[in-house]
Amino acid sequence: MDSLLSSLRDFWEKGPKIFRQVVPAGELLDPFDLFSIFASAEERIHFKDRDFSHEFENPFTAYLNGCSVVINHVDNSSLKVYETCKSLRSHFPHIFANMYLTPTNSQAVKAHSDDRDVLVLQMIGSKRWHVYSDPIRFPYSDEQLGKGSATLSAEERGPLTLCDTLHTGDVLYIPRGFVHEADTGAEPSLHVTFAIPTHDFTWLSVIAETLRDVGRRLISPRQSVSLEFWNASSASAEDAFRAVKQSLFEGATFERAQELFLEKIRRHNLAQDSFEPSLRQAEMEIVRRRSHSAILPDRNFLLQIEGKTSDRVVAVFARVAEDRYLRWNVPDDVFEAVRDLWQRGCCEWRSLALTDDIARYALAVCLDSFGVAKLCTTVQFN
Ligand SMILES: [Fe+2]
Repeated sequence: MDSLLSSLRDFWEKGPKIFRQVVPAGELLDPFDLFSIFASAEERIHFKDRDFSHEFENPFTAYLNGCSVVINHVDNSSLKVYETCKSLRSHFPHIFANMYLTPTNSQAVKAHSDDRDVLVLQMIGSKRWHVYSDPIRFPYSDEQLGKGSATLSAEERGPLTLCDTLHTGDVLYIPRGFVHEADTGAEPSLHVTFAIPTHDFTWLSVIAETLRDVGRRLISPRQSVSLEFWNASSASAEDAFRAVKQSLFEGATFERAQELFLEKIRRHNLAQDSFEPSLRQAEMEIVRRRSHSAILPDRNFLLQIEGKTSDRVVAVFARVAEDRYLRWNVPDDVFEAVRDLWQRGCCEWRSLALTDDIARYALAVCLDSFGVAKLCTTVQFN
């Protein structure tokens, strides 16, 4: 990461750049981290076909049904992500992070621009990125493009600047304002976007906040404009305007501007640090879960098919001897993996008959949470 940060200076606020293999595997998230992140995140957003989806409560079920799952401020839900943000504070005033989990052959959101500079870290799988130009240079929050219902046209996106695929451990820098979109192919993707909220760090915001601070300490800026202010030919109003402006600019020193900026940054970083104790506690639970390598179906539940639509199977787990049924609408491939598990009796969750580890773990967690199978250690498995 250090080499990335030193060469990032050449690209900062200029254009996108990919840095290959800069983060070692031990610092990346794995499927076990997802369980704890989903459990503790204040808000989860599901996307399907580049739009919001409200069809599923459970993020793992949503993922198995083709939804992308987005966690904003994942630095408040993952110790690894928090620690990365904290270590990056020696290079940036403040940095927060959002997480994007995307199944195979999907795109979570449409092409858009952001009001911040970002470092996209590929945690699991791969994702192909298209970065276009910056139609609005250094946008403020209300100038972000492509975040409404309308899709940006090719003309609005501007010319393509970068088209490449991120693999595990790679980082992509996208400057504020550059329109971008990303999709998955045969592999799923888990990435975390580390965001430097540069729309809040502009010269305009620093100077405006300093002037506001100075203005609150003086009497004349508190007064309402004179009753003649809207009269274009009012010389007295113009004199008053010049006098107040001068008093504000005289008080707005570089030292005070820096002091106010540091105070603001300290508040942001303190708020981020307040989550650290609970994240350390959650880490112990993640360590315990990492020992869960097996999935053991409860053979008291019989698996049946109740019905079938064009792309989903209505699976029923029926408990023998008790009048208990659990219905689950799942895609064909997930149903086949469950049927395979019930035939085998038990297996390592990594050998469930699905295409990738995130889907396999998602299925194991779903079955465990429904109470029809149990995630357990290999010792119990034996
Ligand atoms: Fe974005």
